[in-house]
Amino acid sequence: MLSSRTLLNKQTLTLLSRQPVALVHGDHGNGGNIAVVLSGCGWWDGTDVHEGVYTMYHLSRNGARFQMFAPNQQQMNVMDHMKKQPMSGDNRNVMLESSRFSHGQGQMQMHDLNKLDVNSFDGVIFPGGHGIVKNLSSFVKDGKDCKLHGDVERVLKDFHRSRKPIGLSSMAPVLACRVLPSIEVTMGHERDENSRWGNWPYTNMVQAVKNMGARHHVHEPFEAFVDEKNKVVSTPSFMWETEFHYHYIFDGIGNMVKHVMRLANK
Ligand SMILES: *[C@@H]1O[C@H](CO)[C@@H](O)[C@H](O)[C@H]1NC(C)=O
Repeated sequence: MLSSRTLLNKQTLTLLSRQPVALVHGDHGNGGNIAVVLSGCGWWDGTDVHEGVYTMYHLSRNGARFQMFAPNQQQMNVMDHMKKQPMSGDNRNVMLESSRFSHGQGQMQMHDLNKLDVNSFDGVIFPGGHGIVKNLSSFVKDGKDCKLHGDVERVLKDFHRSRKPIGLSSMAPVLACRVLPSIEVTMGHERDENSRWGNWPYTNMVQAVKNMGARHHVHEPFEAFVDEKNKVVSTPSFMWETEFHYHYIFDGIGNMVKHVMRLANK
């Protein structure tokens, strides 16, 4: 019987013995090129740190390449993440804050959202966080009638029209539901029932996407929902507030990323 190991040359085998996990699971960037759109850095005023990091971790683990994008403009506000209140006198730029996610690669990795061209990518992912409702859209002010940042609207419509997948976590579905007709998404539970290790404080957003014309499906934080027709993949993430069960969110984002990559390679 020919095992896959016998097909590997000696040099690869030496590497494999040193770094088994990366070589067995990773695909060295052959799994497509995915754009990740960020909106700052931190749950209360930008992209949630966990959602952003887990997204890029799972892209890497499953063998995709990725680049980060964010709008080059002022943030609505800067939040004190301990007091959960705006900090006065602190102004920050969304793209510079988002570049905190790029590991020391600076301008190699982070780009102005106005440069995101659908023809250069196989899919796009928007991790959640309040940057979605404060700066990628006017949802905090206008709810279901919100306006989208011009480049966000352009990117969503371009990827949808080109039949390329769109991945969304936590509150990011509000963006897609506002500009893409009759899509189907999940933002978790529809009522704030205390589930075992957390609760659902953002159910008003589920109502909002329904009012925008989307169909909502109830799912758990470790699951992703796929609208195969529209190639839109969503996962509840931090719509579920949990003290420390972050691994559920990690797994849900992993499922979302894998479906985005599957649809990107169709
Ligand atoms: C983002 O924040 C800036 C600064 O407060 C604001 O001018 C802009 O309207 C916000 N973007 C959207 C789409 O609401």
